[in-house]
Amino acid sequence: MCVIFLAKIEAMALVRGSSLKTGSALAALWLLFPAVITTSAKIEPLLFEEQLLWVSGMEGEVNTYRIPLITFTPMGSLLAFAEARKFSASDDGAKFIAMRRSTDKGSTWSPTSYIVDDELDQDGLNLGSVVVDQEVGSVILVYTVCFHLHNCKPASTMMVESKDDGLSWTSPKNLSIQLGVQNFAPGPGSGLQKRYEPHQGRLVVCGHGTSEGDGVFCILSDDHGHTWFNGAALKSIPYNQKKRALDFNPDECQPVEMMDGSIVINVRNQNNYHCRCRVVVRSQDGGMSLPIDDLYFDYELVDPAIAAGAFQKEGVLFFTNPANEQQRINLTLRWSVTNGTSWEKNALQIWHGPSGYSCITSLDSGSADDRRHIFVVYEKGLHDYDETISFAKIHLYGGREST
Ligand SMILES: *[C@@H]1O[C@H](CO)[C@@H](O)[C@H](O)[C@H]1NC(C)=O
Ligand SMILES: *[C@@H]1O[C@H](CO)[C@@H](O)[C@H](O)[C@H]1NC(C)=O
Ligand SMILES: *[C@@H]1O[C@H](CO)[C@@H](O)[C@H](O)[C@H]1NC(C)=O
Repeated sequence: MCVIFLAKIEAMALVRGSSLKTGSALAALWLLFPAVITTSAKIEPLLFEEQLLWVSGMEGEVNTYRIPLITFTPMGSLLAFAEARKFSASDDGAKFIAMRRSTDKGSTWSPTSYIVDDELDQDGLNLGSVVVDQEVGSVILVYTVCFHLHNCKPASTMMVESKDDGLSWTSPKNLSIQLGVQNFAPGPGSGLQKRYEPHQGRLVVCGHGTSEGDGVFCILSDDHGHTWFNGAALKSIPYNQKKRALDFNPDECQPVEMMDGSIVINVRNQNNYHCRCRVVVRSQDGGMSLPIDDLYFDYELVDPAIAAGAFQKEGVLFFTNPANEQQRINLTLRWSVTNGTSWEKNALQIWHGPSGYSCITSLDSGSADDRRHIFVVYEKGLHDYDETISFAKIHLYGGREST
């Protein structure tokens, strides 16, 4: 199994060099004002380590790896998933779901296992949302098959589940039997389990519909994924009609639970309605509604219309996307200490070149090491963004041990 370490040593050396200076300045401050430093450690993300999890065209029968997801399990293992597109790079066509697992927080990874095979379907599976149920210790992956209706119908929403830390997976279960038949592409990214009221314990998976009946939709489960029901809908305009450039067409999305119990969904603005930037919408009722009153455009988050990463850790909101209005380049990490109402000026560029979909995770164990790190998977290339799936470990305090 090949794990290819990235030759980004010069870049890392540069970042590390500057952080060392800040580190010693802080060490001096620490002596003068120890209490101030411990209570308000300033976030200063540093790209600490990076390795490629998948390289398109290099292994067996897989043509292209795309659509990376990442999560921690309740036991503290990392699971990374991607679509393994068998014969071409296109969104339809036959695929596997590829998975790699790390039990040492991303230093080493298992070989790839292919946990779902759509068996040469014309319009195979598409990822997908990964959601972790902390109460029962399970990991659930929700995905779609036949989403594009190419030589097949109808589209179905499917689920697989692992109750043993990602080692084994159930066979696929068809959620469309409960939800009704609809075109629903979850995520791509993470679903969530509500930590706070209202509806503490609920599983929330949000995604988007077809290109005509498009919009953001959430499906919900109040019994650990046994049964699911349809929740909020934020419909496109004109709904169920052919779209034109600049129509309102909310698309792929990433929900995040904030510390007040609301769910903020960061959405791809497919037809560039109003701006080339992200749409943000909020649910105050556990994913049952997404009122227009709570919708805004985040002009600071410029975006080429793509799936992005969002994650809340200890009250800080993190966001990753290719920060460019036109092109899928410049994978950038931003962070907000104001619940997303503003973003810190000094964003971290993770990769200057071609970059695509991304997903963020972090472990909330309370340990000092886990408080210091977030982890990002993203599509990365030299010429095209779909050449590799890269895993980046990010130190939130410039590499410093004392925070
Ligand atoms: C899933 O269930 C729906 C509703 O019964 C059905 O129409 C569809 O064919 C099923 N999909 C698969 C992949 O079995
Ligand atoms: C990359 O992102 C940063 C942060 O948003 C921005 O300042 C810069 O102009 C971007 N560069 C390109 C080439 O898009
Ligand atoms: C962010 O939200 C939390 C939870 O509601 C609140 O306590 C905090 O004051 C908010 N922060 C800002 C800067 O608004």
